[in-house]
Amino acid sequence: MKTQKLGIIGLGHVGEHVLAYASQSELFGEIVTIDINEDKAFGEALDQRHATGLFTRNNINIYQGNYSNLKDADIIIICATYVYDDGRILADRQALIGDNASIIRDIMRQITEVTQEAILIFITNPADTVTFMAASEFNYPQERIMSTGCMLDTARFKQILGEHYGVDPKSVSAYMIGEHGYTAVPVLSKTTIAGIPYEDLPNHFPDVEHWDADTIQEKVVQSAYEVLNAKTGVTNAAIGQVAFELAKAVLLDEKAIFSVSTTFTEGEYGASAPLCFATPTVVGRNGWEKRFIVPLNDWEEAKMQTSIDSILANIELAKE
Ligand code: 2OP
Repeated sequence: MKTQKLGIIGLGHVGEHVLAYASQSELFGEIVTIDINEDKAFGEALDQRHATGLFTRNNINIYQGNYSNLKDADIIIICATYVYDDGRILADRQALIGDNASIIRDIMRQITEVTQEAILIFITNPADTVTFMAASEFNYPQERIMSTGCMLDTARFKQILGEHYGVDPKSVSAYMIGEHGYTAVPVLSKTTIAGIPYEDLPNHFPDVEHWDADTIQEKVVQSAYEVLNAKTGVTNAAIGQVAFELAKAVLLDEKAIFSVSTTFTEGEYGASAPLCFATPTVVGRNGWEKRFIVPLNDWEEAKMQTSIDSILANIELAKE
């Protein structure tokens, strides 16, 4: 009997977290780890197998494999990234494109030789550019290609607001759109707590400082750098969880709405050329199924344009 199969490509700081979440979830009967460092892929798989010996109810087959093992994969999560000699991972996501473009092309070439069925989830930075390369340069069904996009930015946004207002971040209804990272746009005009619009919150939280949109955007962007600086160039726990939640939404056909990055054609959101960016999107077993073009206020529209310009500039740099 075929079990649900996950492939993880790149078993670095992020991939090992994705693997841990996926193993412990027991949603997958088979998990394949692939890395150019075969020892690392083997060691991570074996380590997680040892964990299943104690803690999981189901017998999960976790093993180091190769691309032929992905032939019948349901989902493939791509976390591979260029690793600098000194172990450093650049905090500037965009600067990674020079080195990560060839890695992603190589991975896509090998994936497309064995499958067009799996849902592909890209984490590799710069996430939007990498996803656009995969979607535009290879013959792969568009609805099966996406990146975690602004899911992580959204998680940070909700966590920061939840903490500020003293409520559970999950009770904050909010999202960010556009480019993952530096230019991601918090959509305050659609942000609510208990259904109360953000601009009315001072009436209900008179003692809480009311931040403007620039302040919030800055706080979300900086929060990533706080982690990157403290962990010498790495963030992994939150993005690992985000990628796993996205995979779960696919596998269970949840129709969850997440701010994932997918391909847009010219004109959408005012884009002057095709590109990938994040907007609230319905995710299910077929990949991304429906997207919402959200009406924005003037500030959000201007910031979205900045985000789009930033991704388009990066796409130029990624060209062969
Ligand atoms: C993050 O935002 C570095 O893109 C990574 O955590």
